[in-house]
Amino acid sequence: MDTTGIKYVVKGDGPTLVLVHGFPFDKRIWKEQVDGLADIARVYAIDLPGFGQSAPLPMSVAPSIDSYADAIASWVREMGLERKIVLAGHSMGGYVALEFARQYADMLAGLVLISTRPGPDTKVAKENRRRLAEDVRMRGPLAVVVAMLTKLFAAGTVGRDPGLADRLRDIMMQQSNDAIIRALHSMAARPGRASVLRRIKVPVLAIAGNEDAVIPSTEAGGMAARVPKSRRKLTIIEGVGHMPMMENPGEFNAALRDFLPRS
Ligand code: MLT
Repeated sequence: MDTTGIKYVVKGDGPTLVLVHGFPFDKRIWKEQVDGLADIARVYAIDLPGFGQSAPLPMSVAPSIDSYADAIASWVREMGLERKIVLAGHSMGGYVALEFARQYADMLAGLVLISTRPGPDTKVAKENRRRLAEDVRMRGPLAVVVAMLTKLFAAGTVGRDPGLADRLRDIMMQQSNDAIIRALHSMAARPGRASVLRRIKVPVLAIAGNEDAVIPSTEAGGMAARVPKSRRKLTIIEGVGHMPMMENPGEFNAALRDFLPRS
């Protein structure tokens, strides 16, 4: 029975890989991973509550990153996934993945942190999110497209594949105001989670593009450095911005292939 309302696509067989999108996207950003890694893993790409086709969280649940992590844990249980999962989170999805690792370590076989950071928002960032939430209430997802789209890809990506920005714009424009606003409040309220990395007992891969204009790739190095040496990997992809899974799926998938446990 579907009680969590989380929708997903799944392909392949092998170790379980669960892909969690960032803000304000949905599972479609992982198309190249679902198709490109299905020969070595059972790849799930999920929609976070309220995004894509997933049901929103009840209004009685306060906006928080924890609530998304809880929803994923309930979904994993509901799906009866037999194996521990490798959880891969992009940006806001990385905040969720870190929170999941803090609360549900026993469900994890590995953690992949993509174009993300472990620290909380600054005062200025919180205020910007509050303003953007107001703007979304008035203008809808277009407000986020205007604020974010030009920062998401490296200049070289746009030159090479101009259609990519249209593809992502469409995904952003299809998200609901409520989901976007809830996510903005959730991100603004999140505490720092760097300490999770020091205590982590499973392998961790940090991935970032060296031209990320949203979250600098130095954050990936900083996250990896906190993980005990024997369990950490770091991949910085050259010439790529905030969306490495779309901008250079070849190198991105190669890093995941190298990281995923053999079945
Ligand atoms: C994302 O891509 O999920 C967001 O840009 C993350 C953020 O705004 O902190």
